[in-house]
Amino acid sequence: MSSLANKRIVLGVTGSIAAYKSAELVRRLRDAGARVRVVLTDGGAKFITPLTLQSLSGQPVQQHLLDAGSEANFGHIELARWADVILIAPASANSLARLARGQADDLLTAVCLATTTTVVVAPAMNHRMWAHAATQDNVKTLLQRGVKIFGPAAGDQACGETGPGRMLETDALVTALATLFKPGTLSGTRVLITAGPTQEAIDPVRFIGNRSSGKMGFAMARAAQEAGAQVTLVSGPVALATPEGVSRIDVRSARQMHDMVLRHVVDADIFIATAAVADYRPKFAAQEKIKKSREELTLDLVRNPDILAAVAALKTGPFTVGFAAETHNLEKNAQEKLLAKSLDMIAANHVGPQQGFEQDDNALFVLWRGGRQELGLAHKDVLARALVELIAQRYRQSKQ
Ligand code: PMT
Repeated sequence: MSSLANKRIVLGVTGSIAAYKSAELVRRLRDAGARVRVVLTDGGAKFITPLTLQSLSGQPVQQHLLDAGSEANFGHIELARWADVILIAPASANSLARLARGQADDLLTAVCLATTTTVVVAPAMNHRMWAHAATQDNVKTLLQRGVKIFGPAAGDQACGETGPGRMLETDALVTALATLFKPGTLSGTRVLITAGPTQEAIDPVRFIGNRSSGKMGFAMARAAQEAGAQVTLVSGPVALATPEGVSRIDVRSARQMHDMVLRHVVDADIFIATAAVADYRPKFAAQEKIKKSREELTLDLVRNPDILAAVAALKTGPFTVGFAAETHNLEKNAQEKLLAKSLDMIAANHVGPQQGFEQDDNALFVLWRGGRQELGLAHKDVLARALVELIAQRYRQSKQ
């Protein structure tokens, strides 16, 4: 039986050409045993008729916030309470903006504001609209509020252009939605994750650091938590909100991160090292601010402890996943790190001015002994979910 059986789904259909796929989506959700009630926005109604969606869902389609019939019993509140999940597919650029702003001037946005259940959006728009900073800011806001973003996929678009912005295909959407109702693949596990940069003091006001924003590590924490794990996140200095349900420990230097990881790793089943840890630190951190008195200044650096290697070397250590940040020879260097540090898995990414660090998107090349998988360019949250699924599979196999 599908995990969608008897689930109550409010399907929001907004103004995008992909609205034609919503008809098939309703059918497939009902085939999986779900009960579907459709909320159609004014924009959505320009692309698909209420009659089509009504016939397929077997329920009246609701369209208006202040409609005397549907609002007689506070329809938006009733819908918000009824839903086990709200899926907006397609979600146009405009609907993402309206959701991010917290508007409540149509039925769909009002239902989303009134609900405590999970809201999922499946974006569908031209690839330039998707890539626009305004849309990406809206996506970021929604992710931070716990909204799940499914897709978009890349490929040919209705406008004749090519790129990321297509709504996920119906099968992929139904499968992704069903995973929300399955017991998490990491249920019952404790996962320890490092994230962000470290800062190595030169004097009281200066440090050696790097460009890690923490986005990848925080996305891993969010994905592991969503997959049912109890997550502890040891983070260097970053400007990110703690993912809901995750316990966070803030550190500054590599040595502090090392100490915190070794303190907490005894309880962990899985360790994921996403942090960009400084390999070296100044041998001496000056007690007072260094004055600009000399023409040249030489800093002596000493090696920092390798946290990942230390965890992998533990006798009864956790399943250990490293990251590898590489500017060249990605696969070869990652393979060497996998073997040299005796890791269970490594996720390698290209880094450079526009890649890996700081960006919202990333691409990963995942290796383990006897296997490999490429995870193509996608939002770090999307990638993290896919990587967590891979980790869960390999972890379960290691226990058999
Ligand atoms: O934070 P973002 O802006 O989102 O960027 C994400 C990222 C690029 C930082 C991330 O995806 C990533 O690649 N993290 C690993 C960065 C890194 O330090 O790679 P490395 O190849 O130098 O180190 C290999 C592994 O050893 C990493 O898992 C690292 O956490 C670990 N390590 C390294 C040195 C050290 N002293 N201790 C460690 O544990």
